[in-house]
Amino acid sequence: MAEELGFSKGLAGVVADATSVSQVQGEVGRLIYRGISIEEIAEKSTFEEMTYFLLRGKMPTQPELNKVTAELKEFRALPKTVEAVIDAAPKTAHPMMVLQAAMAALAWDEAPVNLKDVDGNVRNAVRLTAQLGTAVARISRRRRGLAPVEPRTDLSHAENFLYMLDGKVPSKDVARMFDVALMLHMDHDFNASTFSARVIASTEARLTASVSGAVGALSGPLHGGANEKVLEMADKIGAPEKAKDWVANALATKAKVMGFGHRVYRTMDPRAKVLRGMLEQLVAQTGDKSTYETLRIVHDTMIDELGKTSKDYIWPNVDFWSGALYRLMKIETIDFTPIFAVARVVGWSSHIIEMWQDNRIYRPAAKYVGPTEATISPIASRG
Ligand code: SDX
Repeated sequence: MAEELGFSKGLAGVVADATSVSQVQGEVGRLIYRGISIEEIAEKSTFEEMTYFLLRGKMPTQPELNKVTAELKEFRALPKTVEAVIDAAPKTAHPMMVLQAAMAALAWDEAPVNLKDVDGNVRNAVRLTAQLGTAVARISRRRRGLAPVEPRTDLSHAENFLYMLDGKVPSKDVARMFDVALMLHMDHDFNASTFSARVIASTEARLTASVSGAVGALSGPLHGGANEKVLEMADKIGAPEKAKDWVANALATKAKVMGFGHRVYRTMDPRAKVLRGMLEQLVAQTGDKSTYETLRIVHDTMIDELGKTSKDYIWPNVDFWSGALYRLMKIETIDFTPIFAVARVVGWSSHIIEMWQDNRIYRPAAKYVGPTEATISPIASRG
């Protein structure tokens, strides 16, 4: 049976399952969370409301929103064991690797999964969402040699995260922009880290164990790690006037320009548009435009040059502008990908809880291309 099977490298175009959590309409550059466009979500919603919406599949009533908001505040503290795991990590360890260990440690006292206990699984996911933010902030401050900042219960999820990271309550403007940035990153149908979460959870592994695996997948530079690489690229270019030549050289040497390209989008990633708009607002407010200017020239040059080739389907993705926005929020580059996880944990959990309603372990076929009649030769005769 497997011999007749073809296969698509990287599962490109392969439908692995059905989902109603989100859809990426790559040809037209549209992203919907359970039918609602990302633009409307960015304009009208909040992280708390979208957490309920993605996990439960319906928009919350006011009492339901109040409840999930209260739970996100109630669950912010980390178990002492997890704090100890974070504090035991070498300060040179990449924060995503420390976060992956912290998530695995959170599973130590997690009960075995009851697939059908939707309420219990959603509550678990809300707790995990609250704790992951606290873990990211603790990891960041420890790396910088700073004492952890305890979470506050009088701040929203976005405000409290920035407060725990920086020790200062952010301005309402910055808090709103960060809230929107988190919503933009919450879900994106079957991206590599979400698919990883689904595969692990399909074995009935614990929610937090599956999220730990998803953190590992997100850490790669081809996926969530790209936002960190974009800022490293901007710093390597050094100045806006050097950007055009840098792009020409990158394209000539077939190097991949981070923050560009996507397996599904064949036009501009709608999230990139929203992020750029917020970034331009913050540039205008702060007057700090050097990174933005460099990226703007990379952006325009890439689109111009690729537009003249058969690769006119390569456009900026969510990672191209996010880092420059976070930099103006005084967030360190190495913390950009962990912040991606602060948001995506909701998408990972939503997919897992949805899948568990009609679960079947993922076990794809393989097209075997090796020998089938080999034998063991004496070691002396081996080449
Ligand atoms: C995210 O899946 C998701 O939804 C992910 C995400 C989410 O929300 O979860 O949207 C978040 O991960 C966004 C992507 C972040 N990664 C990057 O920005 C890294 C740079 N991009 C590339 O590595 C690449 O575009 C991928 C990984 C995003 C997509 O890879 P594919 O679909 O496997 O495409 P490919 O590598 O096969 O490239 C096809 C062609 C190649 O040229 P040829 O070998 O055919 O001549 O396009 C070229 C590539 O060289 N190409 C690029 C390019 N990306 C692809 N050329 C220059 N710069 C790039 N960025």
